Amino acid sequence: MTAVVPARTSAELIGAEEPVLAHNYHPLPVVVARAEGAWVEDVEGRRYLDMLAGYSALNFGHRHPALVEAAHRQLDRLTLTSRAFHNDRLAEFAERLAALTGLDMVLPMNTGAEAVESGIKVARKWAYDVKGVPADRATIVVAADNFHGRTTTIVSFSTDEVARSGFGPFTPGFRVVPYNDLAALEAAVDETTAAVLIEPVQGEAGVIVPDDGYLTGVRELTRRAGCLFVADEIQSGLGRTGRTLAVEHESVVPDVVLLGKALGGGIVPVSAVVARREVLEVLRPGEHGSTFGGNPLAAAVGTAVVELLETGEFQRRAAELGGILREGLESLVGKGVVGFRSRGLWAGVDVDPALGTGREVSERLMREGILVKDTHGSTIRLAPPLTVTAEELQSALHTVEKVLARQA
Ligand SMILES: Cc1ncc(COP(=O)(O)O)c(C=O)c1O
Repeated sequence: MTAVVPARTSAELIGAEEPVLAHNYHPLPVVVARAEGAWVEDVEGRRYLDMLAGYSALNFGHRHPALVEAAHRQLDRLTLTSRAFHNDRLAEFAERLAALTGLDMVLPMNTGAEAVESGIKVARKWAYDVKGVPADRATIVVAADNFHGRTTTIVSFSTDEVARSGFGPFTPGFRVVPYNDLAALEAAVDETTAAVLIEPVQGEAGVIVPDDGYLTGVRELTRRAGCLFVADEIQSGLGRTGRTLAVEHESVVPDVVLLGKALGGGIVPVSAVVARREVLEVLRPGEHGSTFGGNPLAAAVGTAVVELLETGEFQRRAAELGGILREGLESLVGKGVVGFRSRGLWAGVDVDPALGTGREVSERLMREGILVKDTHGSTIRLAPPLTVTAEELQSALHTVEKVLARQA
């Protein structure tokens, strides 16, 4: 017999979390119970337009039918083998993902941070085995205001004190230079440099889009210096900016691309290091691994995600809807918005600090049925599912206008 669980209200559920959940997040006070496409519904049946999309993990919306079907089909057949054995889904996933990105080999992992960690390990190994850097001397150059995840090594090169403080001692071997500054990058690269690791658009920093020519400059500089260009496309990739990868805006092909978030279709965590053969070939059995990485369920969902992207439809939608987003935001400048940056269907919007913090604005929008999240200070991020309609997007922008006008 199924036990009958008494329904609890949103307020009760939020209260119940307090004593038992680690306080490493500060969620908006909304308790989501179901979702479809660009919409979520709370415990009381209130509907909200999801303008965050799981930090781009839900690029295809909630429960995209093709992805749910792929998951169901796989759940009925085989879910986990570990990499101790082969499974019949992994080869196709790797082949199609490599082809989609224009690279050669795939290292499957689970979360974004794991892909970054794996990328760092691979770059170091490449530096020792191929480039000939003396043992334990490899360095990796990264950008200030980066966000690459939360592990101890990754926070070692974060410039965000909240992310770092209290978690030392830190992993050595990283040099931090300002983002979007080729001269500083050039000065930091030397014969010990294994890689330059950057986000092609800095997401958590507030959707910071570098100047035209920066990514081309990074490509040329790393090639000249004989080190790897590692692009963290975990948030910027897989359609979000109007291209499969954000580096495509400058027709640049990095040596290594890190993917995550949307690769799991909003269903399971799937991440990957995708790279040139010469780079990923440095790994030998036993040197790196993951029990869940490349499991058949992840591979089935990941393949279905790649299949959606192969059509080009989502990239086109992101580009077209991105035009509407940009136009809408331009019309709000001076009306509560002091500035914004956008690329494709992704924007960092700086709200006039006099109108409230990003958090306060997010709460006001929530009360009007729009879910967004602040990044820093008075900046909010807009990143709806790529399946959102033009009308839904326009209506969300109208709500933003209304909410800001009310505070002015
Ligand atoms: C660019 C980038 N890299 C890495 C990560 C870490 O991904 P995860 O939270 O899946 O570990 C994130 C998450 O926001 C990200 O935006």
